[in-house]
Amino acid sequence: MASLAIVTVSNITTDQYALLALKAQISYDPRNVLTSNWSVSSSICSWVGVTCGSGHQQVIALNLSYMGLVGTIPPHIGNLSSLVSLSIENNSFHGSLPNKLACLYQLQHLSLGFNKFGGEIPTWIGLLTKLQNLSLHGNNFRGTIPSSLSNISSLQTINLSYNQLSGSISSSIFNIYNLKRMDLSDNMLSGPMPSNISYMSSLQYLSLTNNYLSGSLPSEIGNLIMLSDLYLSGNNFEGRIPPEIGNLTMLTKLCLYSNNFEGTIPFTLFKSKQLQILLLADNKFTGSVPSEIGNLIMLTELYLFDNKFEGTIPSTLFKCKQLQYLFLSSNKFTGEVPPEIGNLTKLTELNLQNNTFGGKSKLRYEDVRDFVLIEEVHRKDASETS
Ligand SMILES: *[C@@H]1O[C@H](CO)[C@@H](O)[C@H](O)[C@H]1NC(C)=O
Ligand SMILES: *[C@@H]1O[C@H](CO)[C@@H](O)[C@H](O)[C@H]1NC(C)=O
Ligand SMILES: *[C@@H]1O[C@H](CO)[C@@H](O)[C@H](O)[C@H]1NC(C)=O
Ligand SMILES: *[C@@H]1O[C@H](CO)[C@@H](O)[C@H](O)[C@H]1NC(C)=O
Ligand SMILES: *[C@@H]1O[C@H](CO)[C@@H](O)[C@H](O)[C@H]1NC(C)=O
Ligand SMILES: *[C@@H]1O[C@H](CO)[C@@H](O)[C@H](O)[C@H]1NC(C)=O
Ligand SMILES: *[C@@H]1O[C@H](CO)[C@@H](O)[C@H](O)[C@H]1NC(C)=O
Ligand SMILES: *[C@@H]1O[C@H](CO)[C@@H](O)[C@H](O)[C@H]1NC(C)=O
Ligand SMILES: *[C@@H]1O[C@H](CO)[C@@H](O)[C@H](O)[C@H]1NC(C)=O
Ligand SMILES: *[C@@H]1O[C@H](CO)[C@@H](O)[C@H](O)[C@H]1NC(C)=O
Repeated sequence: MASLAIVTVSNITTDQYALLALKAQISYDPRNVLTSNWSVSSSICSWVGVTCGSGHQQVIALNLSYMGLVGTIPPHIGNLSSLVSLSIENNSFHGSLPNKLACLYQLQHLSLGFNKFGGEIPTWIGLLTKLQNLSLHGNNFRGTIPSSLSNISSLQTINLSYNQLSGSISSSIFNIYNLKRMDLSDNMLSGPMPSNISYMSSLQYLSLTNNYLSGSLPSEIGNLIMLSDLYLSGNNFEGRIPPEIGNLTMLTKLCLYSNNFEGTIPFTLFKSKQLQILLLADNKFTGSVPSEIGNLIMLTELYLFDNKFEGTIPSTLFKCKQLQYLFLSSNKFTGEVPPEIGNLTKLTELNLQNNTFGGKSKLRYEDVRDFVLIEEVHRKDASETS
């Protein structure tokens, strides 16, 4: 038997009532936007931030972003039953989200980023089944990420960064097949990266930066064939980078800074021809940099500092003509610095400090005139201040 849904269809009068309830909850309006503009003597469809549908019967979008407003969201907002887009980014709305917002079943875009909302991310979010974009970043949300998010199959972007979310990442949220961008950075999430990550085959952007995640990277990460941005810096990940990383042919940015990764750079990574930024610094990587590094012809930034890399710098590195930042400091590199380094015309910063390069290989000023040699700069700073 089909279930009966009782839907309250609002009209312009109920929508006006809901917006006036919101206006009444605004305790500070520094630019007098609502105070002067949201006047009952004019149609709500002419109010700043309000967009009505064709025929001016219903409010379909509300955008009060960047207005410096202070206040709370009244439950009446849940009566805006035709609302498709609600955006109140960069204000100082506080309190918790009223559960009447679960009635906004047409909502596709919910953007509450950079406010002062607190409490848990409500489970009822999972009832907004048409949602495409969910941005709750930069608030004070606590607790765990609700598994009900996995019920929103239309989701394309989830941004929960800069909150205080904790607990482990539930496997079920990785069952959102259409998700393209997921940002959970700068929270307090812990536990491993679930192997169910592999089901998000549309994922292009994943950031888990600055959490307390641990364990090794599941080899299933190689199934995310659309992935172009992978940010895992500032966690406690360990173990080797799985060779399946090489299956990510769209990868442009791989940032693993400040974890406990070890072992050699997997050979397969040098198949990722789109790679522009490779940040492996502050880990426990060992082994040498193979000559295949020269395959990464799109590379603009290479950060290997604070590891245990050894051996010589292969001259093939200088096939990476786009290189702008090359940081190899604090490793165990030996041998000569190849003079071809001077051929990297786009290089702006080079740091080779704290290695054991042969004395004969001291770079001549003519080779490096076009970029900042951090070693020299530091020496100069030291002599200036002494
Ligand atoms: C709008 O809806 C309310 C509540 O359902 C109703 O009382 C009112 O008559 C309606 N107004 C118009 C203009 O349709
Ligand atoms: C409110 O602002 C809109 C857009 O700037 C403008 O068209 C409208 O006339 C204003 N209404 C009042 C009452 O100030
Ligand atoms: C809301 O307004 C801001 C500032 O005017 C704008 O940058 C942003 O794109 C708008 N958001 C939506 C969803 O329309
Ligand atoms: C709208 O929502 C509020 C609070 O949720 C409620 O009190 C009110 O009766 C609702 N209906 C109308 C038509 O405004
Ligand atoms: C939005 O808020 C954040 C955090 O307060 C701030 O860093 C950022 O500059 C703001 N953006 C704009 C465009 O005001
Ligand atoms: C979701 O966000 C993307 C970009 O971040 C934008 O192109 C798209 O229009 C948004 N979707 C909706 C329904 O607003
Ligand atoms: C997803 O939706 C179904 C059907 O409404 C419900 O039974 C289930 O509990 C929901 N799952 C979660 C994790 O909320
Ligand atoms: C992992 O994904 C599979 C396939 O979607 C699903 O059947 C399974 O329940 C998921 N595991 C968890 C723990 O959510
Ligand atoms: C999430 O929001 C932060 C802060 O505005 C932004 O820097 C980041 O790019 C966003 N992530 C995504 C995936 O859009
Ligand atoms: C993924 O990578 C592994 C290890 O490099 C390889 O054996 C496998 O064939 C790759 N799978 C696909 C689909 O390319």
